[in-house]
Amino acid sequence: MPLLEVHGLTKSFGAEKAAVSDVSFGLEAGQTLALVGESGAGKSTTGRLALRLTAPDSGRIRFRGSDVGTLPRRGLHGFRREAQMIFQDPFSSLNPRMRIWKAVAEPMLVHRTAPRRELRDRAADLLAQVGLPSHLIDRFPTSLSGGQLQRAAIARALATGPALIVCDEPVAALDVSVQAQVINLLLEIQRDRGVAYLFITHNLALVETFAHSVAVMRAGRVVEQAPVAELFAAPREEYTKTLLDAIPELPNSLPA
Ligand SMILES: Nc1ncnc2c1ncn2[C@@H]1O[C@H](COP(=O)(O)OP(=O)(O)O)[C@@H](O)[C@H]1O
Ligand SMILES: [Mg+2]
Repeated sequence: MPLLEVHGLTKSFGAEKAAVSDVSFGLEAGQTLALVGESGAGKSTTGRLALRLTAPDSGRIRFRGSDVGTLPRRGLHGFRREAQMIFQDPFSSLNPRMRIWKAVAEPMLVHRTAPRRELRDRAADLLAQVGLPSHLIDRFPTSLSGGQLQRAAIARALATGPALIVCDEPVAALDVSVQAQVINLLLEIQRDRGVAYLFITHNLALVETFAHSVAVMRAGRVVEQAPVAELFAAPREEYTKTLLDAIPELPNSLPA
């Protein structure tokens, strides 16, 4: 049984064309599915639908086999604990008035996964695990760099011990040198914790070394879906070939 299974997801925002049309995919525990496509293809909406942050017009989301759309309140709370999201812009995803350690402690408080007196230590532990220097944990977001903030956002997402993290363009706003560090951190976390990623990106070059499978989206639909090696070696859709041809012939900048 896949960890996450979405079937026939459709969502319209009133425009002529639906933002997301009949999207289906599955994601195994501990694996990465890359959702790739140009800006406006419907990737972010799909990510939000998969986490039930947006309600679909139709379609179904199963998490560990349970239909997320019909979960009772307690079940939905459990799903929120196990399924987290990180965003492109950590400056807007972290509360500017909250010290870094508190931002990481907050989900543990909300989900009651740690006693109050342990929150600071637990947050400090997590922040150390994501490589944030310890003198930064009492700071406010404005005094951290983009890469440091994204590390804090990752620690916050990890705070409740999730099985799934939707990563919505998590390195797109970062300097190229920092991008590789954050990708490597995400890989390390997956190795150590077995977290599954729905990894949203407009950058197909990024996924070859990182994802297990790829779903290519265009105009709200998934046009091709395959294991990553297969997609890179033998794309079936013209559109996928166009995206592959657009990748510069430079050596991949991600260190092994
Ligand atoms: N909250 C919203 N209200 C209205 N339109 C939206 C909303 N969210 C997304 N859209 C529209 O849905 C389409 C897909 O957007 P999005 O999912 O953000 O694509 P992507 O993440 O691939 O760039 C776009 O045309 C966008 O303008
Ligand atoms: Mg987007």
